Amino acid sequence: VEKDQASLEKLLHKNFIELSIAKHNQRSILFYLHLIKQKDEQTYQHSLRVALLGVQIGDFLRIDKKPLLFGGCLHDVGKIYIEDELLKKRHYTKQDMEHMKEHVMHSYHLVKDIHPFTAEVILRHHKYQEDHYPLILPISHKEYTATERSKIDYYARLLALADFYDAITNRDNDKYGEAKKLSYDEVKDIMFSRNHDQKRLIRDLYTCEIFGKTK
Ligand SMILES: [Fe+2]
Ligand SMILES: [Fe+2]
Repeated sequence: VEKDQASLEKLLHKNFIELSIAKHNQRSILFYLHLIKQKDEQTYQHSLRVALLGVQIGDFLRIDKKPLLFGGCLHDVGKIYIEDELLKKRHYTKQDMEHMKEHVMHSYHLVKDIHPFTAEVILRHHKYQEDHYPLILPISHKEYTATERSKIDYYARLLALADFYDAITNRDNDKYGEAKKLSYDEVKDIMFSRNHDQKRLIRDLYTCEIFGKTK
């Protein structure tokens, strides 16, 4: 779905209210989003779309949607430390890719003292792809129980799925091996072939049209 910036922002605020996000957390999220927006409008809109898609996925699964809202908004904030030329580049070399990977640790460090749980989730938003990174995760300063740790992984997996879907449906560069916009069928094929562990959920999300909306 092609949504302009104003309607994405409106939807974000609607979710703040519907999910009863505390005022201080709203302000904090908006602050991080402001940083991203100043840096790069594309990444800003991507972050909003991933957050909103995450909420829809959470809604479908009937789980707490807040970690997906927070995670979507904040997962790429570390890109504010990536040079403009690299961020806006269309064709990435292997070296560029390596450099881009640093955004995950940057996001983590920017967020960890204010939203520790979200920081753990976003630290893992590129963990579920073939070329996953970062390879070594920092030790969290908080001790998480086994239940909390599996929650972190679960939310990270869903965030990664929303992030991946938005990337392949909206990016018109060749980061995913394509220089043009992918068709509905191409996107669907890639979603299944690159997310073997989530086939059932992907199928369900297509069925209920959270994925694959064409208008
Ligand atoms: Fe990312
Ligand atoms: Fe992303």
